[in-house]
Amino acid sequence: MKEKIGILYYSLSGHTKKIAEEIKAVTGGDLIPISTVKAYPADYEELVEKGQEEVEKGIMPALLDVPNLSSYTFLFAGSPTWWYTMAPAMKSFLSGGNLAGKKMAFFTTHEGWPGKGPSHMASLAKKGKALVQGEGLAVRFSGSRQVTPAEEVRSWAADVSE
Ligand SMILES: Cc1cc2nc3c(=O)[nH]c(=O)nc-3n(C[C@H](O)[C@H](O)[C@H](O)COP(=O)(O)O)c2cc1C
Repeated sequence: MKEKIGILYYSLSGHTKKIAEEIKAVTGGDLIPISTVKAYPADYEELVEKGQEEVEKGIMPALLDVPNLSSYTFLFAGSPTWWYTMAPAMKSFLSGGNLAGKKMAFFTTHEGWPGKGPSHMASLAKKGKALVQGEGLAVRFSGSRQVTPAEEVRSWAADVSE
């Protein structure tokens, strides 16, 4: 069966968005950005601290409206790594339901300390009765430079959704 693919992502500084676009280039899926109602601090140090507090406390920030995902049979979901796990916004999304029966695959971007984002995302999605496909992908950046080759992203995306 041909899958109807969505590529849902959260991205504050554009890295995860870039990977979502690489996945779109091979799968033809629709890009579906998510964002929080409340903006995070613009100052990076304040952002990192706020992120730490939210991750440690398990806070799930309110999201701006997520489009109706019912027509998608396969969802990629991508998040930056925040304190060795997914960003709180992705936790909000995955805990929000409507995943039952969907195939899902997870990716994260990081800067050298990937932690367990994709496997934490997979666990939450399984609780929502999603069907997790393959191993998650961690894509490394160094500043704005993508260290993990785009080719690796593309072959992962093709394999996991075939
Ligand atoms: C709150 C916060 C926490 C972070 N924690 C980590 C981390 O634990 N490990 C790591 O390698 N990078 C960490 N980073 C760096 C981001 O994961 C990395 O820059 C990511 O690619 C950003 O994605 P984006 O541009 O899509 O927002 C953190 C960044 C922020 C803002």
